[in-house]
Amino acid sequence: MQVDLPLPLLGGLSPAQFMKRYWHKKPLLIRQAIPGMQPLLERNALMDLAARDDVQSRLVIQQGDTAKQSWRLRHGPFTRRSLPPFKQAGWTLLVQSVDLLDARVQDLREQFRFVPDARLDDVMISYASDGGGVGPHFDSYDVFLLQAQGQRRWRIGRQKDLRLQEGMPLKILADFTPEQEFVLEAGDMLYLPPRYAHDGVAKGECMTYSIGFRAPDQVELAQSVLQGIAEQLTDAMPSKRYRDPGQTACDRPAQIPLAMQAFARDALTNALRDPDLLARTLGEHLSEPAAAVWFHAQDVACGVQHGVRLDRGTRMLYDEHYVFINGESFQASGRDAQLVRQLADSHYLDARQCARLSASAARLLGQWLDCGWLHVLESDKTLGL
Ligand code: SIN
Ligand code: CO
Repeated sequence: MQVDLPLPLLGGLSPAQFMKRYWHKKPLLIRQAIPGMQPLLERNALMDLAARDDVQSRLVIQQGDTAKQSWRLRHGPFTRRSLPPFKQAGWTLLVQSVDLLDARVQDLREQFRFVPDARLDDVMISYASDGGGVGPHFDSYDVFLLQAQGQRRWRIGRQKDLRLQEGMPLKILADFTPEQEFVLEAGDMLYLPPRYAHDGVAKGECMTYSIGFRAPDQVELAQSVLQGIAEQLTDAMPSKRYRDPGQTACDRPAQIPLAMQAFARDALTNALRDPDLLARTLGEHLSEPAAAVWFHAQDVACGVQHGVRLDRGTRMLYDEHYVFINGESFQASGRDAQLVRQLADSHYLDARQCARLSASAARLLGQWLDCGWLHVLESDKTLGL
């Protein structure tokens, strides 16, 4: 992506300008980010997704008038008959990770790749009947709220008071103080940094797409990376056993020797000292596919000679030394490394690029094809455009 070229998606800002001025800092309203926007999925198609047991969906129903509102939450799957009628006001259906299920939504997600893939979470689609919304709240993540159909009134604010209403199944701010208000039409988009309070209420039926970003929590990241390191330690660290030729006779046999504590501390320091192991484990963790993803090989017996593209569910990242794909790490060098990184960045390699792979790299990509992590490239990408 050309990060210095102005994008209509960002209201004429270049990705570089947007990231510098707004990302993770302040909201931005972009009128007609996608001019002439039509919903990528019809209402019924969204309901069909919500009926699937491998898709995460939620139903939020408002009760009471604006002065004293309460919310009910149910988790999917939902048969069409278990959802309220469209004419009933005040309900919202939220379907998670639609980008993993639909090629058009995946294409939309691709437009946001000026943000590192390691930060991208998913595209959630919500359908709301008239007056529907999930209440005033804040999210821990950056989000682009793209109005796909109909109108939605957003009220937003910096909100210092983060107390939540008690006894609600959703996180609803107890005392929301909006500072700005906008009505978004189809094609308009609102970017919100983390913890910016917001409340979106449908004006008539509407659909909103949330392009959401994940930001790892330090403790959770440490837990995952430490677990990954622990699993790889036997190969990565020479085995060394505790020795205590200086141990004196003890009159308190139950007391743990200080030297043993120091030995444990050294063991941990040594385990974390290897920057390569840490970086590799981090990459493997970040490239783990989403829990609901299942890969299906479609092109078995076909080699990589026609070009390859990533499956929608594949997560592929790289760092200076490794390429990571769906939780696994591989080392490549020279031209192979350059081509495989190109695959990670552009999500495909055309036939001409594949022909430049070494025999062993072509075999490896062939294995990824067999796993369903890659697919044979359709002919429209073979020019490498
Ligand atoms: C929605 O689409 O209804 C909710 C999106 C959000 O507030 O984060
Ligand atoms: Co939100």
